Amino acid sequence: MEIIIQPDSEKASLLAARIVKKIIQEKPQPVIGFATGNTPLLLYKNLVRMHREEGLDFSRVVAFNLDEYVGLQPDHPASFHYYMWKNLFSQVNIKPENVHIPNGLAEDIPAYCEQYEQEIKAAGGLDLQILGLGTDGHIGFNEPSSSLASRTRIKTLTDQTRKDNAVFFGGEENVPFHAITMGIGTILEARTCLLMAFGKKKARAIALAVEGPVTSMVPASALQLHPKAIILLDRDAASELKHVDYYQWVYEHKPEWQKI
Ligand code: GLP
Repeated sequence: MEIIIQPDSEKASLLAARIVKKIIQEKPQPVIGFATGNTPLLLYKNLVRMHREEGLDFSRVVAFNLDEYVGLQPDHPASFHYYMWKNLFSQVNIKPENVHIPNGLAEDIPAYCEQYEQEIKAAGGLDLQILGLGTDGHIGFNEPSSSLASRTRIKTLTDQTRKDNAVFFGGEENVPFHAITMGIGTILEARTCLLMAFGKKKARAIALAVEGPVTSMVPASALQLHPKAIILLDRDAASELKHVDYYQWVYEHKPEWQKI
């Protein structure tokens, strides 16, 4: 894993945007896995700015979102459909037919999940998967005890996750109990994974994921098995890591050709 610690979430998000931009520019048909939540909001702002000011072209981008709540209409303000169109897709030149977000209204959920996996494969696999982190260590909606080999499927949200997201639903009682999420196995097949985490409330989950054992009880720890996982943090999210000095030393001594 490459652990990059930036002074704040603004600087980290700018760096994340440069990583995404590089992949979009390099690949003839970049396949990008997008995430939702507060964490990637500044990244998406930067991508919109790069599109407007630097001509970053999304017309070849194929998008696959990580997850979606079960039972929400796409125009529900807390749905990930709504979030993605509001914060990114409506503001760049992505082709609507290239946007894939799990359909939480699918009638046959297992068949739909299998189809989602096939669509990722047919697009050539994910070049990059952007990830946030739940306070319980989840990625996507792969809650603790998720199989490290899991594929896209329905998951039941933990009490903690429903509490964390209650603010978007005007109260915990309105938060759905289920979501469709790419599996950990699906995520690990992305050619690059970029996990971002900001703030003190993510510090413990980061310490467990980065320096703890690989365990399904901390789903993000599965990234230790990934050949190209970038963990991008602000100082607060890095505050419970034991080897901060080492990670910073490595970053400062990156060979010139590896720098972003
Ligand atoms: C939800 C999403 C995750 C996201 C997490 C953290 O549970 N399914 O993909 O990473 O929230 O959200 P935030 O970035 O708002 O802390």
